[in-house]
Amino acid sequence: MKKKEIVLSGIRPTGNLHLGNYFGAVKNFVKMQDMYECYFFIADYHSLTTHPKPEDLQGKVRQVLIEYLAAGLDPEKATIYLQSDLPETTELYLFLNMNAYLGELERVTTFKEKARKQPDNVNAGLLTYPTLMAADILIHRSTYVPVGKDQEQHLEMTRTFARRFNRMYKTDYFPIPRAFNFGDDLVKIPGLDGSGKMGKSEGEGNAVFLAEDPKSIRKKVMKAVTDSGPTEKNQKKPEPIENLFTIMKVVSEPGTVEYFDDQYNNMTIRYGDMKKQLADDIIKFTEPFREKVKEIAANQEYIDKVMKMGAEKARESGRNTVNDVREIIGFKRIH
Ligand code: TYM
Repeated sequence: MKKKEIVLSGIRPTGNLHLGNYFGAVKNFVKMQDMYECYFFIADYHSLTTHPKPEDLQGKVRQVLIEYLAAGLDPEKATIYLQSDLPETTELYLFLNMNAYLGELERVTTFKEKARKQPDNVNAGLLTYPTLMAADILIHRSTYVPVGKDQEQHLEMTRTFARRFNRMYKTDYFPIPRAFNFGDDLVKIPGLDGSGKMGKSEGEGNAVFLAEDPKSIRKKVMKAVTDSGPTEKNQKKPEPIENLFTIMKVVSEPGTVEYFDDQYNNMTIRYGDMKKQLADDIIKFTEPFREKVKEIAANQEYIDKVMKMGAEKARESGRNTVNDVREIIGFKRIH
């Protein structure tokens, strides 16, 4: 039998999963677990760049795990693990850092943004975030990485580091991985505040969370930024309006989107009606998820079992790679 291709992706435990995380990443994870050898992890090392408190970190890790499972990840099909349960990742990170250059790391958009947002905490972990991410991906010799559009540049860096390693050691040990989405382009789900992407830390009212209670979802959607309406037939939609349509396209029936699109084009649209429909559709879409979260959260034994199983499987794969890499570099195998 042909060996299955390897898939890896992860999410930082910085809060509950929102629609952007789902449509940009988790939806693909669920589909891919039936087709590939998959590793999905919780990026707790990465979350240290913003200095979380130990007690918060644990709760958030647990929450992401519960939400992974509630969204449909199956520990019998995919390896679901915590990044820090695979400390071999940090050794690979160190090796990769030896061939990652200051100039290229400083040019990364997310680094520049974070440095602007948290000027008092521009730590080395932030700068080398892309090398840690490359280590995550390369430690299982993955080829497909399902992520949203915002991670595209990080994936380019991983490709660069993998190629550089192969060239330097005259090997083809690392496959060159690529960002993946079913369909074609990577997804970017916008926020409700009129511009940019949906994000966990973009401020109140921007993100809708999968586990959020219906009342709160309705309130946020009804408050979403709009404008005073089209002034000409078939006018191009301004960003805040386009954003509402983008969200509607992923949660609502195509007929619903078409209905409001026609109304926009013939200038009869009432944004209040559109938002009401959008809120209903988001609530309906996320309902089964909320039920599942409750069910899984009540079963601590199962949660512990999933973490343990994932850690064992991830380490088996990770140890092999790090041993091989040590040997290629000229060290002894020790793991
Ligand atoms: P994180 O935790 O910021 O986001 C997790 C995943 O959700 C996607 N995403 C979005 N997709 C579409 N629209 C949005 N508005 C949106 N917001 C978030 C992200 O693209 C991502 O796929 N660096 C990563 C975690 C990570 C990782 C890795 C990912 C660490 N190592 C190795 C892949 C492979 C991050 O911070 O994701």
